[in-house]
Order: sequence, then C-alpha cells, then structure tokens
Amino acid sequence: MAKIVILTGAGISAESGIRTFRAEDGLWEEHRIEDVATPEGFAADPGLVHHFYNARRAAAAAAEPNAAHRALADLESDGRHAVLVVTQNVDDLHERGGSQNIIHMHGTLNGALCAACDHRWPAPAVMHRTDLCPACRAPATRPDIVWFSEMPYQMDEIWTALRAADLFVSIGTSGNVYPAAGFVQDAVRAGVPTLELNLDPSSGSRWFDEARHGPATEIVPAWVREMLA
Ligand code: OAD
Repeated sequence: MAKIVILTGAGISAESGIRTFRAEDGLWEEHRIEDVATPEGFAADPGLVHHFYNARRAAAAAAEPNAAHRALADLESDGRHAVLVVTQNVDDLHERGGSQNIIHMHGTLNGALCAACDHRWPAPAVMHRTDLCPACRAPATRPDIVWFSEMPYQMDEIWTALRAADLFVSIGTSGNVYPAAGFVQDAVRAGVPTLELNLDPSSGSRWFDEARHGPATEIVPAWVREMLA
C-alpha cells in the first residue's frame, strides 16, 4: 500500500475562516510572536497568552472543516493508501473532517498542559492564568501548544514516516518554520517524490518535484480525485 505523508499548515484551514499567520491580515501582523508564542512571553504575561489562545480556540470551535480537510479524509478512508497527516495547525478541523491518522506536531488548542509537572488534560473553552493543574495543583496551566524554541511533538515518528514514504505532500504552509519547513528537503534526500499544494509558491517551493498553486478547497480535492481515479 502506498504510504503518503501530508504536511499541512494554516492555509488548509483558511477557507474555513481560520486566520493564517503571515498573510497581510495574518495573526503575526497584530501580535508579536515573542509575546504570545514563546515560553518567555507566557512567563511575562500569562493572562495575555491565555487571551490569545482562548480567541483561537473560540474561532476553531466556530469553524467547520472544508472540502480540503474532507478530501484528505476520503483519501485515507478509501483504504488504498496509508495516509499520515502531520499538521502544524492547532485546530481540530482534520479530525472533524474525518481524518484518523493525525500528528499535531505544534500541539492542540483542545489540550491543557501543566508547566510545572507536564500533566495533560482536555482544555476548557476558556483558560485563565489562575487555573490549577488537576494533578499537582500548581497555578501553571498553559495551552498544550508548542511555542517557538520548544521541540515539536512526535518528531522521531514523523521523520521515520517521512523516510519510508512513497510520496510527501505539503499543503497550505509558507515554509518559514522549522523543522516542518525542512521536511521537503528530508524527503528529497530520502528519494521520496514531493508535491506542493499551496495558494502561492512557499519559501521551499523550488525543492518540490511538482507544485500546484490555488485555493486548497479546489486543488486538494482535485488532487485526491486523481489519486483515487
Ligand atoms: P503561514 O501563515 O506562515 O502560511 C500559510 C500559507 O498558506 C501561505 O503560504 C499561504 O499562501 C497559504 N494559503 C493561504 N490561504 C490558502 C488557501 N485558501 N489555500 C491554500 N493555501 C493557502 O502558516 P503556516 O505555514 O502554517 O507555529 O505557519 C507555520 C507555523 O508558524 C504555525 O504552525 C505557527 C506559526 O508561527 C507556531 O505558532 C509555533
């Protein structure tokens, strides 16, 4: 069975109404990464960081999966390909779109993590700086999101899958944040064919064997139709 590793980024959720990071109206135009997406920012002002992720959680809860999420689920459920979705997204639109084999390498808005004892539990809709860890009772509750300078989750598993893949596909990511931005080069080194599906050429576009550009809700279902034809 052909093994397909699919990396996704904010662009696949854009047409569901979730804001991307680096667009002109993106989140990083309004917020400083240092303030809301680093351990130092959280230590300096946990209330601000909770406020930022509470808003992201509310936006994700109000959004629905789109045709691109659903197409990836169809590719998996068809059963002819072994599909692994490695997402940088912290929303749950892949799950709600029907995908099953998913790695959230940058964490998830639906998770809470204790900064004191590493205990994890489901996040409430709204998190506060005064929330106590249910395990150790420390007031050190944080979103289970991987911040800049932190190690993304399940990297060994991802690299193993990438090296063993028959195809690597990158969807809706600008290719600015490592290690995800380097997956295409890892795939090339391992002799794995590569395909980019993105609105416009990403930073690493030249590394891909093939690149198709357009809105995810059009080009992802079209590609999946070809795979299942
Ligand atoms: P970016 O905002 O950097 O890039 C989004 C990409 O999606 C861009 O290349 C857009 O051209 C493309 N795009 C936008 N709309 C699209 C559409 N309708 N269809 C297809 N593509 C579209 O977001 P990411 O690459 O996901 O990490 O960002 C990577 C990481 O940087 C995030 O996980 C986050 C951020 O800082 C952390 O917060 C740790």
